[in-house]
Amino acid sequence: MFAALLVGCVPKEVSKNAMVKMAVPQLIPKPQFMELSGQIAYVLSEELTVFDDGGFESETEMLSAFIDRPIRKVESPEEADIRFQRSRWSRTPEAYLLNIDSSGVQITAGSNHGAFNAVMTLVQWKKGDHLKHVAINDEPSFRHRGMLLDCCRHFMEPEFVKRYIDLLARYKMNVLHWHLTEDQGWRVEIDAYPKLTKVGAWRNEKDSSIHGGFYTKEEMRDIVAYATARHIKVIPEIELPGHSSAAIASYPWLSCTGEQIPVENEWGVFKDIYCAGNDSTIAFLETVLDEVLEIFPSDVIHIGGDEAPKTRWEQCEKCQRRIKKEGLHDEHELQSWMIGHFAEFLDSRGRKLIGWDEILEGGLPEGAMVQSWRGMEGGITAAEMEREVVMSPTSHAYFDYDVRSTDLEEVYSFDPIPESLSADQAKYIIGGECNMWTEHAPQDQVDSKVFPRILAMAEVLWTYPEERNYQEFEHRVDREYAALDELGVDYGAATVPFEFANAELGKVSIVDRVDGLKVSWRVFEEAWQEGREIIIPPGLHEYKVVGYKNGKVYGDTIELNLANHLALGAPTKVINGFSDWYTGGGDKAMTDGFSGSFDFRDRHWQAEQGVDMIYEIDLGESKSISSVQIPVYIYGNAWIFSPEYIDLWSSDNGLNWEKFARIDMPSMSGDVEQRIVVAVKDWDEFTTRYVKVEAKNPGPCPDWHDAAGQPSWVFMSEIVIN
Ligand code: ACM
Ligand code: ZN
Repeated sequence: MFAALLVGCVPKEVSKNAMVKMAVPQLIPKPQFMELSGQIAYVLSEELTVFDDGGFESETEMLSAFIDRPIRKVESPEEADIRFQRSRWSRTPEAYLLNIDSSGVQITAGSNHGAFNAVMTLVQWKKGDHLKHVAINDEPSFRHRGMLLDCCRHFMEPEFVKRYIDLLARYKMNVLHWHLTEDQGWRVEIDAYPKLTKVGAWRNEKDSSIHGGFYTKEEMRDIVAYATARHIKVIPEIELPGHSSAAIASYPWLSCTGEQIPVENEWGVFKDIYCAGNDSTIAFLETVLDEVLEIFPSDVIHIGGDEAPKTRWEQCEKCQRRIKKEGLHDEHELQSWMIGHFAEFLDSRGRKLIGWDEILEGGLPEGAMVQSWRGMEGGITAAEMEREVVMSPTSHAYFDYDVRSTDLEEVYSFDPIPESLSADQAKYIIGGECNMWTEHAPQDQVDSKVFPRILAMAEVLWTYPEERNYQEFEHRVDREYAALDELGVDYGAATVPFEFANAELGKVSIVDRVDGLKVSWRVFEEAWQEGREIIIPPGLHEYKVVGYKNGKVYGDTIELNLANHLALGAPTKVINGFSDWYTGGGDKAMTDGFSGSFDFRDRHWQAEQGVDMIYEIDLGESKSISSVQIPVYIYGNAWIFSPEYIDLWSSDNGLNWEKFARIDMPSMSGDVEQRIVVAVKDWDEFTTRYVKVEAKNPGPCPDWHDAAGQPSWVFMSEIVIN
């Protein structure tokens, strides 16, 4: 797809055929083409000297800032450690050449952005003052390489935002998508509407504390200038028509009902949104956008457009009048009308509108760009319409998600170009973003979500697919941790640090999934133990397992329930099957020694919807039994109910069954919270070979429930027989 780079100024020895493929140097993202010898070629002088053949003052300043030492400019290239040279031509705006040999460092680029990229490569390449020989010829795969930072769900200090700009620059990302307005907080100072920040920037938390903050115009201009010097475009996101509770809390007339609402302190999607029928609301948004445009020079402005319930519009006279007047069919077309209005508005001011993929619904307005988040489909549709697309699907790009769903390798496997697009259509995919939503990540937890995963995103967006290899990348990430430590980045886990295996009956081993891990575990609150083998005493027990790497906790502490009992490993006939979504590990799940944890998606729970769950367990020979324990998960809000009862049967041949006990289970009137209940029964000891467990589904969700009439789920785990 991409042919030669920087044709016209490529030194011959850096052509791809001649390239010597050696150990890949410690650079993230990996450059497209490089040649290196592993030898020290040059030692920088104590007082760093720079020759600039014209116009690279800002990049020289950035070099000085990133390596944290003063630089002296010199008049002749011979005297300089580092020489900037402007080439007359470069294939793409961000391309650069970096050459280090015994004469020093030569940076060649056709643009300041290209030279800045070279500086960022040099910053990573430099180890002390010693520079190894290298010849790099580099340019990005994609021109839009971004990160969304949600400063609304949790406010981030201006200094923190600047720190992220430096971190983005280090990895050659070039867009900060700054999420500035939300249900839970309005963060942009707007002169015409002071209550947006007096009222809308603050929320009362459930514990009576107040959370909030906002950016003054001066702070935002400062941040934009800081980013611009680092060749990072700041795209502000001003959400409309949804996610607007904080604005409506400030000025209730903006909504359809005009009723006072609070700045939200719950997470979710809310039905009070901007009224699309009210001209004053439209004028308000125009004024807000005009003030925003004064601060942000970005050619692209994000207007959100996601998750806007149409409930209020359906019942609003003004909205219905607008639908009629504009000849629209429904509320989706009303949203499309509104987005179209602001696309035109921005166009008249020389800017382009981008919105989340919901803006396709009801028709994509002329000139609008699309950011695809609900998978890749929205992006595909937009590219087919020859509209520019930024890809950030939840499958690979949501860094608020746990590493259990999106680990480093998953991010690295991201391909922003869907296979179904033709080469011509693929050109409309201009890049991607990773999205850092902060509902569950206040400022001090953002690093642990973003790092190291952003390293994978940076490389996916920069380095050609044929130059990428995960195992090799993982080695570079491992070496990058030292740099991150030095930069004060509180990185999180790259992946789930370990998994568990049944070594043999009654024994579970901890299997490392990352290199250099130290592991400690304990049962209940007893002393921590080291080692990779857990011998389980009879019964059902709670364990905690924690990993350490590079001297700090690595990943989440894992809570694990393990059991040792008479039926451990016993063959089980699953009579009614189990849902594909919750297999718990399949046919052996109910006697495998693993019992589900508080996270009902932990793959140890077996579940089925709307039917009784029936298991026949073969103990292998007649055994004397006197008790059973069966963990049951309850979570009304997720339609997970307690079985009505659990019947226990015995048999000597697996054919003729005799019921010997019933466990009555709690009823769940109005009960929506999540918890684990262990169904327990003891009886006078008797001998049997087979045990049947029959858990009665409680029937449809009851009348008091939001999903009344829908089939309920039952979740069960290990059947512990003793
Ligand atoms: C989104 O995650 N609602 C864009
Ligand atoms: Zn309305």
